[in-house]
Amino acid sequence: MVKKPINIAQPTFLGNEKKYVNDALESGWISSIGKYIERFEQSFAAYHGVKHGIATHNGTIALHLALAAAGIGKEDEVLVPDLTFIATSNSVRYCGAAPVLTDVENDDWNISPVAIAERITPRTRALLPVHLYGNPARMEEIIELADTRKLVVIEDCAEALGALYRGRRIGTFGKIACFSFFGNKVITTGEGGMCITDDDELAERMRILRDHGMNRGKKYWYDHLGFNYRMTNMQAAIGLAQLEQLDGLLAKRDHLFNVYMETLRGNDRFIFQENHSQQNVNWIFTLRIDGFGYEQRDAVMALLKEEGIDTRPVFYPIHQMPFYQDPRYARGEYPNTEVIAREGISLPTWIGLTDEQLVYVAEKLIESVDKVSP
Ligand SMILES: Cc1ncc(COP(=O)(O)O)c(C=O)c1O
Repeated sequence: MVKKPINIAQPTFLGNEKKYVNDALESGWISSIGKYIERFEQSFAAYHGVKHGIATHNGTIALHLALAAAGIGKEDEVLVPDLTFIATSNSVRYCGAAPVLTDVENDDWNISPVAIAERITPRTRALLPVHLYGNPARMEEIIELADTRKLVVIEDCAEALGALYRGRRIGTFGKIACFSFFGNKVITTGEGGMCITDDDELAERMRILRDHGMNRGKKYWYDHLGFNYRMTNMQAAIGLAQLEQLDGLLAKRDHLFNVYMETLRGNDRFIFQENHSQQNVNWIFTLRIDGFGYEQRDAVMALLKEEGIDTRPVFYPIHQMPFYQDPRYARGEYPNTEVIAREGISLPTWIGLTDEQLVYVAEKLIESVDKVSP
């Protein structure tokens, strides 16, 4: 019997998405001018209680735009976690600066304030923490370090829209925060991203750089080398409709988390990402199989695939990538990143999954782990 596959992620469009997209199409405003862009930017900024939202075509370039607006350039170093999606560190390299790969904490899997302190040099200009898999990084310690050393903090919130750290929304700790609306994210626009900030000057710089560096008062006059990083009105139409549903989407993700945990909690073969903040976001349910290596973890994934269950590995350490073999990037040891990377596996997490499917996935995971290592 061919089993119906359980995908790792899937978008759902249960609100005004089609209505708004049709409206955008009928209006003729399909490129990067149109009412949905402003509405999406304003609603997104308001959700975070900040003044500015600058929508972009994806999350990777949102990071590049933020770093460029913050003036990060050739001589600079930016500390990024070694355990993250590659776009976080690549965006620093797009500026000609050096991403300094920093080990993560063993408990929350996020950039370690201790490892940050060890890697700060006179060239360090910025810290780029990531809230991995929706779990907030230790922002109090990170901001304290940044304030003492006069560093800019840019938050990579691509995976954590809606999370709170000690009662405050993530994305409001740094000077700028960047989000992604890729198809597997908490809300999606297909491809899409957003920078938010409370700083008027940075917001203006991002708006100019996003639009080829064009002078805001003089059309086709360029004071800066800019980019075309704009979001389309159609993307924003989907984004606005998705944002309207955010509270419900987050509640459903919490429910998925609880159902998984009911089956897996207390099983000593697994290690969970520790949540020391007030509210994480279950972007993608990820856990470690205690003591496993890459081969065993991959064997579990293959067994699950046979059962029709799609999974994904935790990110590989960036310091192991061939184009990061440079002492400017990789400094010191990465014991925590290395162990989390080889033990980690992500399970299907999207809001259309039923409780029955979640229990099935969790039970098959336990069975597969026991098969690979009895
Ligand atoms: C942590 C992190 N940063 C950046 C990005 C880049 O976002 P995008 O795929 O929209 O370019 C992603 C997601 O894909 C991500 O997970």
